[in-house]
Amino acid sequence: MDRAIVWDSVKKSYASPHRITIFSDASIEVLKGEFVGIFGPSGVGKTTMILLTAGILNPDRGKIYVLGRDITEMSRDELALFRRKHIGIVFQFFNLIPMLTVLENVLLPLELNGFSRNEAIRRAKEILSYVGLLRKADMMPSRLSGGEQQRIAIARAVVHNPQIVLADEPTGNLDEENKESIFELFRDLNKEGITIIVATHDVELARRYVHRGYHIRGHKFNPVGV
Ligand SMILES: Nc1ncnc2c1ncn2[C@@H]1O[C@H](COP(=O)(O)OP(=O)(O)OP(=O)(O)O)[C@@H](O)[C@H]1O
Ligand SMILES: [Mg+2]
Repeated sequence: MDRAIVWDSVKKSYASPHRITIFSDASIEVLKGEFVGIFGPSGVGKTTMILLTAGILNPDRGKIYVLGRDITEMSRDELALFRRKHIGIVFQFFNLIPMLTVLENVLLPLELNGFSRNEAIRRAKEILSYVGLLRKADMMPSRLSGGEQQRIAIARAVVHNPQIVLADEPTGNLDEENKESIFELFRDLNKEGITIIVATHDVELARRYVHRGYHIRGHKFNPVGV
């Protein structure tokens, strides 16, 4: 089966305030169409994993392939284009742009990808309807609940039809019901063919949804039964 993401012996450390190794000889493969969980306690490297896979951070050593392309060899510009086209990211913090309405937030990736205004609005409304929030299109994000904001963030991450979605702690700060609805949304998107990686400390919840999971431990990915 085709591989969506491959890490080959990745090393990543941070230099300041003192050197800390996050990944050492870490390898992982995610196939196209899979829904995979990345687990581990706070500070273990979940966000670092997402940022490396998105090409936002560079590894110290090793290779990272996304959709068959070695992203560690791409220039910044190439990477920006590649990411914009193929990857949707749900960030752990600061997801929505507070000065823009819900609709404008969701339009952003389409505008960056050069869609015409009309086509962009049509798609953005379609995806807002999909996540059940079309009626909030003209509101400012700060007026929405945490769960609603997170659903908008996911809508924005998938509105341009990326092949891969990387979600970093997408259920942080949500109550149980909203957490479930976020994972249900990911499951629906995965059924439409999108490869999904969710990094979360909420293992028990995520295990009910993902195909496979890994714990980050000992600077590596350790498979867990799901
Ligand atoms: N830019 C940076 N410079 C130095 N250290 C960093 C940097 N980013 C992260 N770290 C450190 O690397 C470790 C891993 O951070 P990371 O954010 O990947 O963890 P995490 O698993 O996402 O944690 P959380 O569950 O709290 O979000 C932490 O100890 C963190 O303090
Ligand atoms: Mg994190």
